[in-house]
Amino acid sequence: MPTSAPSRPVAPAGLNHLVINVRDMAETHRFWTEMLGFTQVGEYRPRPDAGPARKMQFYSADHDGKLSHHDIAFMEVPGLPAPAADGTLVSAIGHIAIALPDREAWLRQLAYLQAHGVKFERRVEHGMTHSLYIRDPNGYTVELLYELPRAVWEGDIQAALNHYVALPTEGEGALQDNADNVPVFA
Ligand SMILES: [Fe+2]
Repeated sequence: MPTSAPSRPVAPAGLNHLVINVRDMAETHRFWTEMLGFTQVGEYRPRPDAGPARKMQFYSADHDGKLSHHDIAFMEVPGLPAPAADGTLVSAIGHIAIALPDREAWLRQLAYLQAHGVKFERRVEHGMTHSLYIRDPNGYTVELLYELPRAVWEGDIQAALNHYVALPTEGEGALQDNADNVPVFA
């Protein structure tokens, strides 16, 4: 028997992966592996009969010590516009958010990025995450975050989304945040 159509759409389990267009695969690869810690898991090898194809490479985050088939992939499109002088990029992508496993890992990664001269654009205590915003070589904004405990934000997601405390982006102050996550809407 064929499956009958439900009356409502089936809610998805989450986002699975993202493919972004990049100007230069080599510099994109370097940043996403050497700065952000992703692992390349594959590349697209066009079949001879498939016609002209763009270069694609696939990357995994760490999933409890295991790799995924891909969390993010890059497609090389050499004619893409470069970011403007002030760093802004006109793109359909607002930002790409990447989760660190916990606060301690997040703080270590911030120290690593700062030590390697990656510019911190913004740091924000949201009501549901603490987040650092940087840019990749293509100009895409990347948000590195750790999630606050569910109890902090689930009582009022709207308030959590609108909670915004800007944190320092330079010097030692850029490597600290506030660890007592009292719900701001309690
Ligand atoms: Fe975000």
